[in-house]
Formats: sequence, structure tokens, C-alpha cells
Amino acid sequence: MNSFKERIFSGAQPTGNLHLGNYLGALKRWVELQDSHDCIYCVVDMHALTILPDPVELLNSTREITAAYLAAGLDPKKSIVFNQSRVRQHSELAWVFNCIARIGWMNRMTQFKDKAGKDRDNASLGLLAYPSLMAADILLYRATHVPVGDDQKQHLELTRDIAQKFNNDYSDRIRSLGVGVEMAVGDETVSGYFPITEPMISGPAMRIMSLRDGTKKMSKSDPSDLSRINLIDDAETITKKIRKAKTDADAIPSEIDGLKGRAEADNLVGVFAALSGQQKEQVLRDFGGKQFSEFKAALADLAVAQLSPITQEMRRLIADPAYIDSVLRDGGARASVIAEENMNNVRNIVGFLQD
Ligand code: AMP
Ligand code: TRP
Repeated sequence: MNSFKERIFSGAQPTGNLHLGNYLGALKRWVELQDSHDCIYCVVDMHALTILPDPVELLNSTREITAAYLAAGLDPKKSIVFNQSRVRQHSELAWVFNCIARIGWMNRMTQFKDKAGKDRDNASLGLLAYPSLMAADILLYRATHVPVGDDQKQHLELTRDIAQKFNNDYSDRIRSLGVGVEMAVGDETVSGYFPITEPMISGPAMRIMSLRDGTKKMSKSDPSDLSRINLIDDAETITKKIRKAKTDADAIPSEIDGLKGRAEADNLVGVFAALSGQQKEQVLRDFGGKQFSEFKAALADLAVAQLSPITQEMRRLIADPAYIDSVLRDGGARASVIAEENMNNVRNIVGFLQD
């Protein structure tokens, strides 16, 4: 039985600055995966249009996020790095998937519910269909693995549902054209065109929370800049944000149990652990009994040491937009080759007449 070639796909929206949550929850992992896998990393500008309609900001943000990718260690020679809108097949496949997915599936997405708020009738159709475009991003390259943060789990399950329904709805056609891959689904062997993608979720422990409220995730869209550490922040800003981070009056506990019900303390200890490559237990062994002032100073030093090389490289790259554009152009050209091959098969599968 042939199987799908292992391929990684992931992306982030250019809707503001990448922050520490994006870095620890996603980007750091993407960099590591380059050594073992074929990887495609995308700046999903079409997704950003659902919430960022300012054209100049979108252009700037696309370049900035690309700079962050490269500064963090994505290597455009090893991996394909490009912006989504350049490869037209993303929207073409998304349309096919809009006709596969059900409105009920989309209505159940928590991200849609959060972003649409109370007035759902007034949300854009793009916001509702967002996960269908995300499925297209992944399946256009027949990607088998998608490394993302915990918050994207539901979207990936939907991607699997779309792939399964497409494979199922068109199974005869896929078989007769001979373009499928035999795969086991339960006890049956089916011929599918799309893989049932495996999520690679960095668990809830890697969910970095807001510095102002330990119950909300660190987010690009939080109105308070003090809530997040941006990859572009200088050392002084990082130190100030950590100093001002919300905590409680108690000292750092010595045991994990002592973090229960202390969301902010738990988050800061988690950030320390992630940045230093340790377990939380170790951090607590080192800092148990100490006051937050002392812990925060150590955390700020660690964060600055880890992030400042990235920040400096990002600033250097942002000053050279021609280079960034050339990376995206080259990545787009390489992505297009794979995208067109698959889209051409999809057109044949669904019955679009072409030469
Ligand atoms: P986004 O900022 O929504 O475009 O997300 C880009 C990537 O970063 C996705 O894989 C998210 O799951 C991940 N991510 C976003 N915010 C956080 C956070 N606070 N903690 C961990 N991962 C995150
Ligand atoms: N929805 C993802 C997020 O908000 C971004 C995204 C779009 C994505 N398409 C993707 C992530 C494909 C992984 C694979 O983080």
C-alpha cells in the first residue's frame, strides 16, 4: 500500500506582531521540524482579511511576520516560506471545500463564535468560512502533519472531516482516475485523495497566557500591549512588561500543587520553563520560597537573552523589504508547483472540464 509522503504545513496570520505565545507554541517547533521533514510555512494573508481590512497594515504585517519567521530560524533554503494569496489555488480549493463542508460544522467553531460576537448575522461570510480555507491550505499540499498551538485543534479536526468527506463523496472517481492513495479507515481500505492530517499540538502547557490576566491566552488582538511580549520588543520593553506582569502576594511555591488556582504564577513559571528548556518542577526547585520580584528579574534576563538575537535579526530584515519579498516570491513559486499538480487532480476529480 503506498502512503502519503510526510509533509509539514503550518501558518500564522499577519494581523499584528508575533508574540511569545506564537514563538513558544508554534514557531520554535517549526524551526526544529525543518531538520527532519519537508516543511511548508505560510503567512496566511487571506485569513487576515477576515479581521484586518487595512491594506497598508496588511502589507506591512505580512513582511513583518515573514521577518519573524526567518529571524526565529526558518530557513528558506530548507523550507518553503511564502504568503498564501500568491498561490491562487488556495482560494480555488477553498471553494470546492465550501461545497463539501456543512454550515453546521462552521457554526460550531469556537473561534467563529468568539470573533463574531453576539451579532452573528453581521459577521463576514469569510469569518464563517475561515476553517474551510484553512483546510485548503493544508490539503492543497496533501500535508500529513500540522504543528500548531492548542487553540487550533478544533480547526484541524474540521480539516480531517473535510478530507474524509471529500475522499468518501468522490471515492469512485478517485479510484477510476487512479489518483488516490489506499488508506485504512477503520476496518476498510479506501482510496483517498487527501490524507487525514495528524495534528501536532503543543499541549495546554505550551499555551502562553496574557501577562495581565492569567485566564486569557496571550493574543495579538489584546488591546493592552502590556499583555504580551512581542518578538520585536527591545530588552527594556521586555523587562518592563515582565516587571508589570500581574501576580499575587504569595511567594513562588516549591511544588506544582502550589500553583493551583494561581493562573498568573503558573503562567510565568511555565514561560520560564519553556524558555530555559526545563520542566516546571525544576524551576520551582530553584525558585521555591523566593519573592516574585526576584523571580521576575531572573525571568526578564532569560527572556532578553533568548529573544534579543531574534529581535535584532528581525529589525535587520524589516529594514530590507526587497530581500523579504524575494524570499516570498521564491517560496511562492515552489509552492505553486505542488499546488497546481494537486489542484489539477482535484479539478479532474470533481468534474471541471479542462484541457
Ligand atoms: P495566530 O496568532 O492565531 O495566527 O497563531 C499562530 C500560531 O501560534 C498558531 O499555531 C497558534 O496556535 C499559536 N498560538 C497563538 N497564541 C498562542 C498562545 N498564547 N500560546 C501558545 N500558542 C499560541
Ligand atoms: N488559523 C490559524 C491560526 O489562527 C492560521 C492558519 C491558517 C493555519 N491556515 C493554516 C495554521 C494552516 C496551520 C495550517 O493560528
